[in-house]
Amino acid sequence: MTNKKQRFLTGITTSGTPHLGNYVGSIRPSVAASQGANAESFYFLADYHALIKTGEPARIQQSTLEIAASWLAAGLDPERVTFYRQSDIPQIPELTWFLTCVLGKGILNRAHAYKAQVDKNTASGAEPDHDVTAGLFMYPVLMGADILMFKAHQVPVGRDQIQHIEMARDMAKGFNHLYGEHLVLPEALIEESVATMPGLDGRKMSKSYDNTIPLFSSREQLKKLIAGIVTDSNGPGAAKQTDGSALFQMYQAFASVEETAAMRRAYADGIAWGDAKAMLFERIDRDIAPMREQYHALMANPEKIEDILQAGAAKATALSQPLMQELRHAVGLRKLQAGAPLAGKVKAVKTAGPSFKQYREGDGLFYFKFLGADGKLLMQSRGFVSPKEAAQAIASLQQQGADALPALQSQLDVVPGVEMPELAAALSARHIDRQRPRHEPVR
Ligand code: TRP
Repeated sequence: MTNKKQRFLTGITTSGTPHLGNYVGSIRPSVAASQGANAESFYFLADYHALIKTGEPARIQQSTLEIAASWLAAGLDPERVTFYRQSDIPQIPELTWFLTCVLGKGILNRAHAYKAQVDKNTASGAEPDHDVTAGLFMYPVLMGADILMFKAHQVPVGRDQIQHIEMARDMAKGFNHLYGEHLVLPEALIEESVATMPGLDGRKMSKSYDNTIPLFSSREQLKKLIAGIVTDSNGPGAAKQTDGSALFQMYQAFASVEETAAMRRAYADGIAWGDAKAMLFERIDRDIAPMREQYHALMANPEKIEDILQAGAAKATALSQPLMQELRHAVGLRKLQAGAPLAGKVKAVKTAGPSFKQYREGDGLFYFKFLGADGKLLMQSRGFVSPKEAAQAIASLQQQGADALPALQSQLDVVPGVEMPELAAALSARHIDRQRPRHEPVR
């Protein structure tokens, strides 16, 4: 991996208008990272994710346009990176289904976003799943498909998304365990140096708190919003605390070290809040103004953005299509005349191990057989009155192997030609297989 390029991938859900928090926390660092020589970057508009959040078609379209224009205005070079719209890649929902089939449902039950909603419902006396769509529940799987589809190594995200990256690792492990090494295990990349942008009220800037400043508001609008930042009641001349000051933190998110130090002194010297706000406005506008022009030019030309996204989709599909073809083959979705797995590409298919077969006979009793990997009959049970008893006998053989035989003696028939060593070996092979059963989802 030393001289191999690191692949970065991140997405933005297209359900809102980009704000300064998105810019500082995601767009700005991503654009900077994409300019690094050793990076191979994938940025996408997560519009399938948007369907989970909103049922307003016009809003999704508008948000997709605004977010794409924002990234481009902020300096993202679509020639250098792969910049695409999620819904232009039909392999992503297909991979989502494959991953759905290897991920334990219990893992999704523990997802923060889902659990938070369930807790809220429980607290208010509503049904646990009230207002929870299956889309919200499945959200981490779709996100896993986004990441695994492009074999990303690093996923720059906020702390709230770490759990999702861990789930994506689980999905990749589960898939690889069953079908061979096809998927790359991603890591969350948490940039400690990324500035945090508080909102107008001092809490994290977030659409859900309604405390945002749009990234591309007009100068006048920006000035007005900044005037509304919550401050304390210290008047001009009184020294002010930088700790816990949203205004200071916002300034710091844009300013150089020297500029920040100067602002710190101004606080100590009792700068009037009005003057501090004017400084903040000028500082932010200095960075945003050149991009603002670019942004409006792009917004006026949606067809140009569409062309850029289509070119990105072509680049992305050049990777997603062959991978999906490989994965379809790996899981057994194949042309019927297809023989051996794609030479070299796919790990040899594991042969099935020894197995138990449970069945009911015409006498109304329940039986099981134990078959070797080659299908040879190794053990035959007598009839049990209930399927549960038969299953219990199987379970004890699976758990204890040959050690379970003495206790089951009266319920088993000897199979002519099968010696104890052969039976014991098959049982222990089954026993091992049983601890990592192929049908059991990962945890
Ligand atoms: N879930 C992310 C968010 O809400 C957006 C997202 C979707 C994403 N797919 C992704 C981020 C894949 C990183 C990688 O912010």
